Amino acid sequence: MEDFQVSEGMKEEKYTRLSEQLKSVWNDEPDLIANLANTAAAIKQTFPFHWIGFYMVKANQLVLGPFQGPVACTRIGLGRGVCGTSWKTKTTQLVPDVDAFPGHIACSSLSRSEIVVPILVGEDVVAVLDIDSSELNDFDQTDQLYLEEICQALARIWNP
Ligand code: SME
Repeated sequence: MEDFQVSEGMKEEKYTRLSEQLKSVWNDEPDLIANLANTAAAIKQTFPFHWIGFYMVKANQLVLGPFQGPVACTRIGLGRGVCGTSWKTKTTQLVPDVDAFPGHIACSSLSRSEIVVPILVGEDVVAVLDIDSSELNDFDQTDQLYLEEICQALARIWNP
């Protein structure tokens, strides 16, 4: 059987191109929603992930922001699910098997693994980037490294 998995080298190349694309997409565009929407779209065009999107901190909840993929839950509390855990702990959550994550919020039954990266402006989490895969164990340290870089870059242009 052919192996369609992305090799680590290919993945790094894809992330490098994605980061360059994002820099030019964000260039001279001050509108945050426009930039988040294009970021989700650019990730979707690069990788076949099931769901890619942002939840933004509003009035002490995470509220659904720009995304690519099926309809998703709109509000998540602090410490709830993978997203709320990333918000509360201010750390990336790399979840190889969502069924093994206590309190995982299943927006789609197709999601098998997930990565959530917080966007920190100073000490505050202002949003999280959430990516779901329909494959088990689909995210690793390479994804974490590059997605954290993208979120740090977004924090620098954060303009609510
Ligand atoms: N699974 C997330 C909820 C958001 S959806 O995956 C789009 C969680 O547990 O926080």
